[in-house]
Amino acid sequence: MNHKKSMTYKTIFIERYFKSFCSFFIFNSSFLIRIVYSSNPLYSEKSVVLGEIRCTRRNPLYYYYNMHTYLRSLLEQRQQSALYRTRLTHLSPQTPTLLIDGQPYLAFCSNDYLGLASHPRLKGASHLITGHTLAHHALEKELAAYTGRERALLFSTGYMANLGVVTALLGRHDAVFLDKLNHVSLVEAALLSRAQIHRYPHNDIQTLARLLAKSQAPHKLIITDGVFSMDGDIANLPDIVQLANTYQAWVMVDDAHGLGVLGETGRGTLEMYGLGADEVPVLMGTLGKAFGVFGAFVAGSELLIEALIQSARSYIYTTALPPALAEAVRESLVVAEEEAWRRQRLHELIAYFRAAAAKRQIPLMESFTPIQPIVLGESEKALAVNAALYERGIIVTAIRPPTVPQKTARLRITLSALHEENQIDRLIEALVDVIMNNE
Ligand SMILES: Cc1ncc(COP(=O)(O)O)c(C=O)c1O
Repeated sequence: MNHKKSMTYKTIFIERYFKSFCSFFIFNSSFLIRIVYSSNPLYSEKSVVLGEIRCTRRNPLYYYYNMHTYLRSLLEQRQQSALYRTRLTHLSPQTPTLLIDGQPYLAFCSNDYLGLASHPRLKGASHLITGHTLAHHALEKELAAYTGRERALLFSTGYMANLGVVTALLGRHDAVFLDKLNHVSLVEAALLSRAQIHRYPHNDIQTLARLLAKSQAPHKLIITDGVFSMDGDIANLPDIVQLANTYQAWVMVDDAHGLGVLGETGRGTLEMYGLGADEVPVLMGTLGKAFGVFGAFVAGSELLIEALIQSARSYIYTTALPPALAEAVRESLVVAEEEAWRRQRLHELIAYFRAAAAKRQIPLMESFTPIQPIVLGESEKALAVNAALYERGIIVTAIRPPTVPQKTARLRITLSALHEENQIDRLIEALVDVIMNNE
């Protein structure tokens, strides 16, 4: 890039003492500001470019920063806007009581819906390794049977499964239709596919119909979460399927939070609505939530799975799930089936929580799943409530933008079959103190 030829050029010393300087280039109607560090600003060949801010007609604004300067500024911005994430390290098994720094905390923030993550049969499963391919193969067969589909394909994570499927299915002449509240991995998958992206407001079937009607794309894929991960509500699948029939679109459901939990036998959102592979040909499920282990899978027809094996890059170009985990998931499927009481108990506890919250006028969302968010608004408020609960020995995750829309920061309470009523009572009392009485 040779800016000097045709540009006015100015060097502004922004900080003599720290020996940084700023170059300002004006080039037709565009300009560029370059921030440089040098031990002597007059000898620019010895200087280091820290960053650039460019404004051009075609590209309104670009930032190119030296990596460390860039990362630092990002972190500072996050801290200033109460979006900085910190991690808690706990040493105990995944149960409602977690040990942090030697102190017990009552946790309402796992996805261990059936309480299987600490089940003794799963913990022992790593000793059951029978061989690399056999474990995966057996699990894929069992997942296909579990979901009532011809085949299933294991991926290392749900994120990768979503990337793999959407990029394998769509190209740049195609169109993808996404609910605004879909999980971020689906949005990333759509971007990566280079298909035309249409996002419709949450569960807004009329807008989806309008978008589908207008689209001339050869392949149209509607993708929705089964259970929305930050709101806990459920996609309107029957209407989506009907639209898909009308406009010859395909449907993909990410049922990360529905499988194991919803439906008569825990087969998820599709079972709840009585839908099968004909209506929803692509089903993605994760194995690290209700099933308490790790990994993910896509279930569908023989052809779909073969196509994914050929062209899903996040399946092809990565290390497989360890066989020990595959064995653990196999055991988890059996336990989930044998111990149906876990699902029933979970639903009892959801009802108990909702009734207790309603009694104390705690504002809940329309969710009948284990995800029970309380919207608080500003990120600062969500953090303050999270900290006040922590003081009382209770952990509930504070979810802030960009995970949820601006001004809808929230507490995301998640329930497990292993919680007890008295623990929920304790949470409710703490919420009343902290949110309702502002203590
Ligand atoms: C709806 C949804 N899809 C996909 C994923 C990604 O799954 P994984 O954690 O296995 O990558 C998540 C995880 O949070 C999710 O909530």
